[in-house]
Amino acid sequence: VAIPLKELFKDFFPIGAAVTPQQADPGTNHGVALQKHFSSITAENVMKPDALQRNKGFYTWEGADRIVQFAKSNNMKVRGHTLTWHSQTPDWMFYDQDGALLSKEIAMEQLKEHITTVVTRYKDDVYAWDVVNEALFDWDPNGVIVYREDSPWYKIFGESYIDSAFVFAHRADPNAKLFYNDYNSIFSWKRNKIYDLVKRLKDNNIPIHGVGLQGHWMVETSEQDIRTTLDLFRGLGVEIQITELDLPVYLSNTEPGSTVYTDTFSFRQKQAYSMIFNVLLDYSDIITGVTFWGIGDDHTWLDQPGRKAFPFLLDEELKPKPVYFEVQKLVQSR
Ligand code: G3I
Repeated sequence: VAIPLKELFKDFFPIGAAVTPQQADPGTNHGVALQKHFSSITAENVMKPDALQRNKGFYTWEGADRIVQFAKSNNMKVRGHTLTWHSQTPDWMFYDQDGALLSKEIAMEQLKEHITTVVTRYKDDVYAWDVVNEALFDWDPNGVIVYREDSPWYKIFGESYIDSAFVFAHRADPNAKLFYNDYNSIFSWKRNKIYDLVKRLKDNNIPIHGVGLQGHWMVETSEQDIRTTLDLFRGLGVEIQITELDLPVYLSNTEPGSTVYTDTFSFRQKQAYSMIFNVLLDYSDIITGVTFWGIGDDHTWLDQPGRKAFPFLLDEELKPKPVYFEVQKLVQSR
């Protein structure tokens, strides 16, 4: 019999899911699954800048409030995602009406206003924020290009907007845990950049408390890459959270797609998820949260027509998959 995930992991870390406002409703199957399995919740989209403040000065709180209310009535933590990103951010935060980049002064004032308003509103409810998301360049093994230079934030400010964003968030809620969040963070070319960034922020007394490893991993993800990354970040003295865990069933982006969950897929996921949770439990002294980027296989950003990703422990009907019981066995053996 399946033990709810939040009970299974209660001695280790909160276990979370990313959701839409529609899913955060006790009258739906998703709401019931959330209540049963998860102790933490994150908005998949509706706390991003373009969702909260599509037009300057006009905030849309409805979806985000719904998720926060659901969390409160079910005693769940809320992870906020995200305050500063190059994507899903309205153009007015970057450009004037002629399409020219804003001056530093104006862009800074707007960023400050946005972060202050959002963090203040959810001060008592959101315990951790992804303050800056995906600021680092994703490839470049030689480390010459450090930042994502095509980000309008970077074009306007260079790297200094990162420092400012953390300071604004901390002023608005001194109790919130503030995270830098990124993907591909277990690869040497990326993790070293994350390390250098966080080290620089800490050395400059910028309030940063954690690193979010997104966890869009593969069934072939290397155990050593995860361990080496966690060892490296341990040395920074920050918390680590796995913020966007999902594991598509394919070995590569070119493997033909399927809409059926085969035994092969199941086998791959059992191996991979067991390995991953075994490692995460080994590091549970520094890992303070693990969040799946969805609830069950019915809804995931990874799906394409004719190519379902089946990335979670719960199936399309939100029932535990064989891999769920494999993970359960692993946790119980520890
Ligand atoms: O808001 C519009 C809506 O008005 C329109 O009707 C609809 C029609 O397609 O599109 C809606 O926007 C979509 C949005 O999700 C909200 O549903 C976008 O097209 C779609 O691209 C967007 O995808 C999201 C993606 O971030 C955008 O970058 C995914 O749902 C979300 O899972 C994904 O999450 C990101 C994390 O924030 C950061 N890390 C990577 C992760 C996966 O890409």
